[in-house]
Amino acid sequence: MHNTLAQLIAERRTVKPDTFTGEIIPDTQIKEILEQANWAPTHGYTEPWRFVVYHGEALRSLGRFMADYDQPNKETEDFNEIRYKKLLEKPLLSSHVIGIAMKPNSNPKIPEIEESCAVAMAVQNMWLYIHSLGYGAIWSTPGFAFSDAFRDFMHFDESHKSMGLLYIGKPSKTNPVGRRLSSIDNKVRWES
Ligand SMILES: Cc1cc2nc3c(=O)[nH]c(=O)nc-3n(C[C@H](O)[C@H](O)[C@H](O)COP(=O)(O)O)c2cc1C
Repeated sequence: MHNTLAQLIAERRTVKPDTFTGEIIPDTQIKEILEQANWAPTHGYTEPWRFVVYHGEALRSLGRFMADYDQPNKETEDFNEIRYKKLLEKPLLSSHVIGIAMKPNSNPKIPEIEESCAVAMAVQNMWLYIHSLGYGAIWSTPGFAFSDAFRDFMHFDESHKSMGLLYIGKPSKTNPVGRRLSSIDNKVRWES
């Protein structure tokens, strides 16, 4: 690898919460991670990323939302208690979970897709920085990720869209070598 940034980009991995050690990351470092998001570029300084940091007891209410969204009716015959409990406790495996949202601008010259791109860049900034600190993360987009129900859970009004969750923790092992299904050469055409 030629330089540190290229190495960080290649070695960042998706790290799942069930492989986190349970170590709690200091809030000061979470704040630093969020600062990196704010350096993402935007068209017209729209800065559409919005986040909610869940930590401590708040992870329990997030788990309750996830379990209830998945199985709203506990009285039904096919209610799966084990699945419910797993979702209920899932956020507790992480040190912090960041709810991701977007507040699109109202300028018709800047379409919403640009705002989604900017939020994704903000998340990647955080993800790379998390990796550089020796922590791990996963951007998770389950069924509720883009729902109004999740937006409401995060207490964002209707001018916002929800975009999933970033689970953060300390990985219990070194990141595996990544894989890509095909090389960049298959995704680029050079014209000259
Ligand atoms: C927008 C976005 C949403 C994702 N959602 C999920 C998800 O819901 N569940 C999951 O296991 N991984 C999710 N991932 C992570 C990908 O599965 C992962 O990035 C991919 O397998 C490549 O692995 P790497 O990140 O270790 O390079 C998501 C990634 C992105 C960028």
